Amino acid sequence: MASRPSFREFAEHWLPRLETEIREVLRCPDPMLAGHYRMMHYHMGWLDEQFRPGRFPTGKRIRPLLCLLACQEVGGRPEDALPAAAALEIFHNFSLIHDDIEDQDTTRRHRPTLWALWGTAQAINVGDGMFALAYAALLRLGQQGLEPPRLLSIVERFTRTAVMLAEGQHLDLGFERRDRVTVEEYLRMIAGKTASLLAASLAMGAAVGGADPEAQEALSRFGHNLGMAFQIRDDILGIWGDPAVTGKPAGSDVLRRKKSLPLLYALAHPEVGPVLQSRWTQALGPEEMPEILALLDQAGARAYAEDVLQGFHREGIQALEEALGFRAPASPLMALADELVERVA
Ligand code: IPE
Ligand code: IPE
Ligand code: MG
Ligand code: MG
Repeated sequence: MASRPSFREFAEHWLPRLETEIREVLRCPDPMLAGHYRMMHYHMGWLDEQFRPGRFPTGKRIRPLLCLLACQEVGGRPEDALPAAAALEIFHNFSLIHDDIEDQDTTRRHRPTLWALWGTAQAINVGDGMFALAYAALLRLGQQGLEPPRLLSIVERFTRTAVMLAEGQHLDLGFERRDRVTVEEYLRMIAGKTASLLAASLAMGAAVGGADPEAQEALSRFGHNLGMAFQIRDDILGIWGDPAVTGKPAGSDVLRRKKSLPLLYALAHPEVGPVLQSRWTQALGPEEMPEILALLDQAGARAYAEDVLQGFHREGIQALEEALGFRAPASPLMALADELVERVA
């Protein structure tokens, strides 16, 4: 999708600086620890499986971009928010490393996952290292001169977000073992596992940029709604996406009995639900996917999920308009929001 040039230009300008900031934080302090840091660098897309340097898929880096943009849009200087942006991306990558172990996924960003290559124990530990280094990244805001009270409130927000993300992951994993999950329960789950970090990205960028509490709250709400729409898109892509484009396996959510939005909708459908349920109680393999896809189609599960997604997108746009007023339509945040809900990867 064509986006307004201002967002592309912003990303082209800031992504290399963000990468430098992240590399600084994830630098190996001692050759004896090279293995630990090289696994991080592999995951970040800087090394191949033999630890040779190169440029590999890094992911979209949307959380740091949201943070830097929020800072700019409230009148701050994006460079001041670089430590927060780096912290968000390092934290996000920690969560992906652990998530792939929890979901037993062997592919991410078109490459084998860390645990698939180096085992679960080392992958858990690399994730732990990155969790802590995300805080190290954030504290660099203080070295840059941010006053302690503001730094403390940003660290507090980041901590609250980390708690919420783990709560969301707990619900997500618990739902795998249940036959029925309500839409309300699902929404609570994705608010924790995904929307909390997008909301924090906006709120932290706005806080560094000196936004007043109302603007911070409205931007946080924009991030929350965007995050909800973003996760529903992820659910849709997890079923109907092209693995060659997403870099993640298609169908693994279904086979693992994940209560993604299209699935829980189909499970509640009067005709399709019982059939799907009976298929699900048997051992499922990829060969069953065409039949499951046909059942999801019959229930109208994709159209339903698209509808819910659009509702969150609209609410997000309203919050952005509250935050930025007449400047909202031309804001790169608007372009990014449109792009993220329409994404195919
Ligand atoms: C994946 O996030 C996990 C979700 C919250 C859906 P992204 O889609 O932002 O992953 P990368 O960083 O671009 O690979
Ligand atoms: C997204 O989890 C949230 C986190 C990683 C914390 P998912 O399991 O839905 O995301 P993907 O599809 O593996 O990226
Ligand atoms: Mg996963
Ligand atoms: Mg998961």
